[in-house]
Amino acid sequence: MDILHIEGGQPLHGTVQISGSKNGTLPLLAASLLIKGESIIRNVPDIHDVATMISMLRTLGAKCTFLEAGVLKIDASDITSCKAPYDLVRRMRGSFYVAGPLLARLGEAEVPLPGGCVIGSRPVDYHIEGFRMLGADVRDRHGEMIARAGKLQGNTIYLDSRTRSVGATINLMMAATLAEGTTVIENASREPEVICCAGFLRAGGARIQGIGSSRIVIEGVEQLDSCEYESIPDRMEAGTFLMGGLVTRGDVTVTNVRADHLDVVIRELLRTGAQIDRTEDTIRLRARMRPTAIEIATGPYPGFPTDLQPTVAVVGCVAVGTSVIEETIFDARYNYTDELNRMGADIAVKERIAIIRGVERLYGAPVEATDLRAGAALALAGLAAEGRTELSGAQNLDRGYERFEEKLSSLGARLSRERDRSEEAIC
Ligand code: UD1
Repeated sequence: MDILHIEGGQPLHGTVQISGSKNGTLPLLAASLLIKGESIIRNVPDIHDVATMISMLRTLGAKCTFLEAGVLKIDASDITSCKAPYDLVRRMRGSFYVAGPLLARLGEAEVPLPGGCVIGSRPVDYHIEGFRMLGADVRDRHGEMIARAGKLQGNTIYLDSRTRSVGATINLMMAATLAEGTTVIENASREPEVICCAGFLRAGGARIQGIGSSRIVIEGVEQLDSCEYESIPDRMEAGTFLMGGLVTRGDVTVTNVRADHLDVVIRELLRTGAQIDRTEDTIRLRARMRPTAIEIATGPYPGFPTDLQPTVAVVGCVAVGTSVIEETIFDARYNYTDELNRMGADIAVKERIAIIRGVERLYGAPVEATDLRAGAALALAGLAAEGRTELSGAQNLDRGYERFEEKLSSLGARLSRERDRSEEAIC
């Protein structure tokens, strides 16, 4: 395990450029499998999950080349396999995104079912049910999804209205682009990442209406062709750095963002008493005092993103008063709270609610991150704390944050990474 050594107590000051979005880019890479030709994707972040998806595309027969930093060319003219290897799906749930494109392009897909996850159970039943609605025969063979279809047939698919699954919306939208006839996805997710993927598919010639609404209509076409597209900025990374500014009482500007994608986050941060100035593509946060307590429920977009729930909990930890967070998307996303309590936080969790009594000060301690967003939260806590924090499991950060320490150091943070070079750490 990598260890991040953090010397806390230094306010973050300065400007940081936000990278391309992890959750926006992964679907674009998978969607490139639908294109009988070349896709050029810009603003691709240099993170582990992207590297995993590139390995997946190569295994399936696509050629992937970086033309320059952040600009990836994928040639999926000749897809040679419909089998996604277990080792890659195991590493990253987002690999399941190849299922829809493979099924649509080749008429078959063999993709291992992603296992459990440290943030709670994350089934793919909506994806599978949707593939069936599009006419595929889908079976489970020893934990692997085996799906076959001659040509997919358009249909109306009702997704669960409470959860509005991002992954199922994207996977089914991708599959439907090459289906015979019209597909309607009801209760579709409205996340910016869905809009980004739809934009890419349209650039390749897909016919999609209702993008950004909860009813997406896709009229199938024969083939998608070469195209060029730019991924969206990472709203989770931007939110993380802004909250870093808040908990250290600093002055942080994030650039290359879509401020409108962070409307709800900005609203909540304003309520803590922070001063925020925004343009279309920059956000500046200044904080001089301890934040005031927060009351937040996560929800599908435009609600408060669950991926920023652990980081906003750190705001609650150092706030004046008692904060309440309700997690409505994932059932076990509080696995980091015991670690924060080791740093002097006062968090009590009951089912999906976290009650956080704000404390004057957090103290550095040895803590462990078991997933990406928990890692970000513990790193922010370390920056806000008095003394030294040893954050193990820091390699989890590399899944979704590009040059995390380098960017934080440029804001004045004092931290360094001790890399684990053993065989098993490399994944
Ligand atoms: C994506 C994001 C993840 C984010 C989440 C919610 C990627 C790679 N990951 O995950 O970072 O936290 O959206 O914004 O983009 N569900 C089912 N059955 C299904 C699918 C989902 O029950 O077939 C449930 C899930 O368990 C969860 C809820 O629906 O409780 C929402 O999940 P979903 O939106 O699908 O999340 P992901 O696409 O996996």
